[in-house]
Amino acid sequence: MSQVSDTTHAVRLDGKVVAGHLLASLRDSLQSVIKSSQRAPKLVVVQVGEDPASSVYVKNKIKTAQSLGMASEHRHLPESISEQALFAELDQLNQNPSIDAVLVQMPLPKHLDALSVIDRLGASKDVDGFHPVHLGNLVCGNPGGVLPCTPAGIMQILEHYRIPVEGKHAVVIGRSNIVGKPLSLMLLQGNATVTIAHSRTRNLSELTRSADILVAAVGVADLVTGDMVKPGAVVIDVGMNKKDGKLVGDIDQAAVGTVAGYLTPVPGGVGPMTIAMLMKNTWTLYQQHILQV
Ligand code: GUN
Repeated sequence: MSQVSDTTHAVRLDGKVVAGHLLASLRDSLQSVIKSSQRAPKLVVVQVGEDPASSVYVKNKIKTAQSLGMASEHRHLPESISEQALFAELDQLNQNPSIDAVLVQMPLPKHLDALSVIDRLGASKDVDGFHPVHLGNLVCGNPGGVLPCTPAGIMQILEHYRIPVEGKHAVVIGRSNIVGKPLSLMLLQGNATVTIAHSRTRNLSELTRSADILVAAVGVADLVTGDMVKPGAVVIDVGMNKKDGKLVGDIDQAAVGTVAGYLTPVPGGVGPMTIAMLMKNTWTLYQQHILQV
């Protein structure tokens, strides 16, 4: 006799599918530009050092750009590079009119300060949307700018699956400049009530259990367990952690999958959206540069 399970499973929020739609539409736009013999957009990815996870991400970014017909370049610089030499490299990229978009892969080696590096790059080629000008636009709710890729990708997933944000309690665990802070602003812009939790937050479980939308972006494997989630909640897993040789998120996927209403998988959730949004931002910067010429 077959057993019938009495547990339901969360709807899978498939980032690969959403990214696929976005990339297909970008590919169409690029093809028409290339057909009209304009130059293709160009993305340069700067990697400093040998962080193995960064190497994988950078490779995927370059591969995706090439698959769309964009020009791309990987500048791999030594771990020991001085701030002065890195700045000289960024100045050169900035002055090159055939380059639209520059990404400096994070994290940087300890002797380099990320904020100074982003500042030196400047806003007009900052494809990550990390520059204070882009973040200022986000704070002010100024539309049409370059938004940080991972949080913008999460908002696209919610939109694609028609998950309303307005009036919902969103709890974001993590306050990084790359994900937690900008995502909280985007959710606020969507009229959610937003709580940001972090390493000093007290009674985390109590807070997470009150979340209609729960996002974990801290880099701690399986931090969020089933008992920390409100039944039916929308749960977004931004984590990319190695555990026993396997890629796992910040959410205990098996346990939370039986409690949540919606859940992004790892891999195949937020990750593909980050890359797709990077391509979209490259396209946006390209259009801004082309219009200025
Ligand atoms: N490291 C992890 N995520 C990102 C990202 O979105 N952009 C950059 N530049 N580095 C990262």
